[in-house]
Amino acid sequence: MATNRTFTMLKPDAVEKGHIGAILEKISASGFRIVAMKLTQMTKADAQSFYGIHKERPFFGELVDYMTRGPIVAAILEKDNAVEDFRTLIGATNPADAAEGTIRKMYAASLGENAVHGSDSDENAAIEGAFHFSGREMF
Ligand code: RTP
Ligand code: MG
Repeated sequence: MATNRTFTMLKPDAVEKGHIGAILEKISASGFRIVAMKLTQMTKADAQSFYGIHKERPFFGELVDYMTRGPIVAAILEKDNAVEDFRTLIGATNPADAAEGTIRKMYAASLGENAVHGSDSDENAAIEGAFHFSGREMF
C-alpha cells in the first residue's frame, strides 16, 4: 500500500557545505511536508546496517566512511506519490547525469558524495524512517 511518505538524509557533504537551508527550502517548495526531522550522526554500525544492501559492493567501505564522517539531517517527508516524486526531485545518483534543477545537480559533487538520500520504495521508506525515528518524533 502506498503510504505517501518517503525518507531522506541530507548527507555529510551537504551539511558541511552549509546547504541545509537551501535544500530544505527546495523540498518544501516542491510540496513535501516535513513529518519528522533531526540533525544526527550515524555510527559505523548504523551506516553498515542502513546501507546493508550494498555490503558486497566495492564502494561499501567508502560509503560507510562518508556517511559517518559528520552530522546528517534525517527527515520523513509526506506528499502524494512521495517516493517517486522525491527521487525525481533529487535526480540521478551521479550528479553528472542528474537533470538541471535537481538537488544533486545543484549541490552534489560526485557519485560518491551526492548530497542527499531518497528511499527507493514505500517499503524501504517505512523501514528507513523507523530506523531513525520513534513514533513520538513523527508528526
Ligand atoms: P541513496 O540510496 O543514497 O539515495 O542513493 P541511490 O539510491 O541514488 O544510489 P544507490 O545505488 O542506493 O547507492 C547508495 C549510495 O552509495 C554511493 N555510491 N558510490 N563510488 C560508487 O561507485 C558509488 N556508487 C554509489 C552514493 O553515495 C549513493 O548515493
Ligand atoms: Mg539507494
